[in-house]
Amino acid sequence: MSKLVLAAKVSHVPSLMLSEISDSPLHSARAGAVTALRELGRRARIREVTTFVVFDTHWLSNFGYHINANTQHRGSFTSHEAPHMIQDLRYDLPGDPALAQAIAAEAQGHGLNVLAHQVPSLGLEYGTIVPMHYLNPDGWAKVVSIASPLFTSIEESRILGEATRRAIEASDERVAILASGSLSHRLWPNKDLGPDAWTTIASEFNRQVDLRVLELWQARRYREFTAMLPDYAVKCNGEGGMADTVMLFAALGWDDYTGEAEQLCDYFPSSGSGQVNVEFHVS
Ligand SMILES: [Fe+2]
Repeated sequence: MSKLVLAAKVSHVPSLMLSEISDSPLHSARAGAVTALRELGRRARIREVTTFVVFDTHWLSNFGYHINANTQHRGSFTSHEAPHMIQDLRYDLPGDPALAQAIAAEAQGHGLNVLAHQVPSLGLEYGTIVPMHYLNPDGWAKVVSIASPLFTSIEESRILGEATRRAIEASDERVAILASGSLSHRLWPNKDLGPDAWTTIASEFNRQVDLRVLELWQARRYREFTAMLPDYAVKCNGEGGMADTVMLFAALGWDDYTGEAEQLCDYFPSSGSGQVNVEFHVS
């Protein structure tokens, strides 16, 4: 029986947090997406997940692949990128150094430049913190966060995803993989930022391709999706090169994956990007 018990593509946009603040103009605006994330957390608990592995497209690296292998992730996070949206967000989550090191070793064994770090001051990025806020709020499960390199390739990210799956299957853990990032990711330019930016997409082309991707997932046409993924990542401004999605599908078996894609909330735009929460069922 597989040790991978849950896999999902999830959103981490700051407006999820603003949606929960009663005096925010965005109060309840992301209620559907928040409910979907909490539902994934409920399912993870039912399936007795012991570790979340998060492919985080908001933790971007210039040099090589990186894994946060700390024994405890603890801090108060203010986003350097959007300090007006995420301030002093506290997190205190156990880590899984053994699984983190095992993923790194597996990938290194296949020639990938990847390091697993145990540095207490290495904090988490909000691509991990925000989903954990909903799925794992009190740290009932361990967390491994994996960065997305900027200067890499689909092939290298596939190595990391495949290594993650092998390490999971060789472990004693019950694991949920989260691909934390957007679908398309063209953001509104500065001069166009205004109240409408929260709820509109910056490119109709991107929106149409995102919707087609969701249709392909619903129809389990993963062979076609993985074939288009390299172009999709470039032409639709993929966040972190869509490394999270590449790693997720590599972990699922790439074009051999045949499971159900269960869309848990409506597709929604945020600051011009396309967002969704989808569980990819694993048997
Ligand atoms: Fe992001």
